[in-house]
Amino acid sequence: MTQYGARHVAIIMDGNGRWAASRGQPRPYGHRAGVEALRKIVRAAPDLGIEYLSVYAFSTENWKRPEAEVETLMDLLVEYLRGEVDELDREQVKIIFLGDDRAMPERCKREMDIAAARTGRNQGLVLAIAVNYGGRDEIVRAVRRALADPKKAAELDEETFGDFLDTAGMPDPDLIIRPSGELRLSNFLLWQSAYAELFVTPVYWPDFDEQELERALQHFQQRDRRFGGHG
Ligand code: IPE
Ligand code: IPE
Ligand code: MG
Repeated sequence: MTQYGARHVAIIMDGNGRWAASRGQPRPYGHRAGVEALRKIVRAAPDLGIEYLSVYAFSTENWKRPEAEVETLMDLLVEYLRGEVDELDREQVKIIFLGDDRAMPERCKREMDIAAARTGRNQGLVLAIAVNYGGRDEIVRAVRRALADPKKAAELDEETFGDFLDTAGMPDPDLIIRPSGELRLSNFLLWQSAYAELFVTPVYWPDFDEQELERALQHFQQRDRRFGGHG
């Protein structure tokens, strides 16, 4: 089942802009190609033993981008969900969202709610789409939720704190993949990545395919995960 031993894989879907520029095209062209890459990777994941796939689609910092680019990204989210939800539902994929959806445009929230409700009972791959997600923001929201329940707040430990995060119920990511070569997390899964293995590839996200995913998993399999212990 988990032939590579990575139950939870998280991907920072980066490099759409550079991919487009390398083709002399505008950024939206790259974002559109990025959605195609996502479609393929979601299909490929279960066969590679992945049970949880988290994808970073829009960060709390991405609002700094020009309004037109933000609009394009929001439109693509709606388009992706509308276009994919039927088939993903048939394939037993459960779609969830990480991040603060309160700041999302209504049209996005509507599709997000539909996708989550439609697929909520599915037992297959969990696809966690991070939109308006920031690791620090998630931790602050979790602290606020914990404080709202003084009894729980007093008994808080590392495990119970996890229940207040957007990823409640999910195992920590085993592997975080970053296409496009940047050596940083850019605010993705800060709490959960404590012992995640990192894989960075120069391949831009729109060119990231099943073979590249498998290559990442093969690298992961070679890692010696010590979690602070030894032997
Ligand atoms: C990833 O591609 C998409 C988002 C961050 C929303 P970028 O748009 O960051 O592409 P680059 O990094 O500029 O190439
Ligand atoms: C990270 O990519 C966010 C997503 C992929 C959604 P960015 O392109 O925003 O990250 P930085 O700015 O290079 O750190
Ligand atoms: Mg980028």
